[in-house]
Amino acid sequence: MKGLKGKVGIVAGGGRGIGAATARRLAEEGAHVVVGDLEGDWARAVADEIRSRGGTASGFDLDGTSAESQAAIVAHAVETFGGLDFYHSNLAGGTGGDNDILDCPPEVLDKSFAINTRSHFLASQAALPRIIERGGGAMIYTSSGAASAGAPWQVAYPMTKNAIHALARHVAARFGKQGVRANVICPGLVLTEAVKQHLTDEYVERGLKAVPHVRLGQPEDIAAAVTFLASDDGAWVNGQVWHVNGGAQMRD
Ligand SMILES: NC(=O)c1ccc[n+]([C@@H]2O[C@H](COP(=O)([O-])OP(=O)(O)OC[C@H]3O[C@@H](n4cnc5c(N)ncnc54)[C@H](O)[C@@H]3O)[C@@H](O)[C@H]2O)c1
Repeated sequence: MKGLKGKVGIVAGGGRGIGAATARRLAEEGAHVVVGDLEGDWARAVADEIRSRGGTASGFDLDGTSAESQAAIVAHAVETFGGLDFYHSNLAGGTGGDNDILDCPPEVLDKSFAINTRSHFLASQAALPRIIERGGGAMIYTSSGAASAGAPWQVAYPMTKNAIHALARHVAARFGKQGVRANVICPGLVLTEAVKQHLTDEYVERGLKAVPHVRLGQPEDIAAAVTFLASDDGAWVNGQVWHVNGGAQMRD
């Protein structure tokens, strides 16, 4: 893809799954990547692997829910690679106890909000000044098809993911004239380690039946879309919510 050689980006929640695949793909395209994760060892392992293949990457301990930690990872990118051009805000978690509205303690919503919404807000506050300083760049946020699926069994995760869409549209509208693009990817069912751990074979089988495609998603499917949005090939895409899901939900 065009324009990624020598660009500097952060992948938050890049220690495994979709984030790790995205970090690998961005590095393959020539970007310098800072991989951040609550599990710092995972982030360093991904960065080591990228470097062993000739790419440029650095692993970093990140708690995305902390403003200080978000500032620290941005400072690390600037100090290590000379600036910041894009930030893939991908992390998520904290969905234990997230049931239907009558069975979801408010504390579960608060926890989900801290991880799945507030972290993206803090990432944007930390990254945007540095991206603007470079003359523009990209924020890419990972949401979920769950944001618009209307699932009856879960309320907090879809609520907190929807809020990211509003954040991205705000950033796109506010900073577009300064060369910043902000977009959202909503993955469908992607067979990451996390999904394989928590979902039964039966659920995965049902998921496949529901998709008008020959297979379910792989982390690399989402990585390709994120990399496009970070690259100059995505230069005219701004303020959009993209569903990358094999057709599981078909949306305008
Ligand atoms: N896999 C899917 O089917 C699917 C579907 C829809 C949306 N998504 C979204 O895609 C993204 C990645 O999903 P995944 O399946 O790769 O999940 P994952 O659990 O493998 O990846 C999330 C990463 O974020 C890290 N993380 C969690 N809390 C953090 C924090 N506070 N600070 C820093 N890092 C933190 C985790 O350690 C983990 O490495 C998530 O936003 C998820 O909601 C995934």
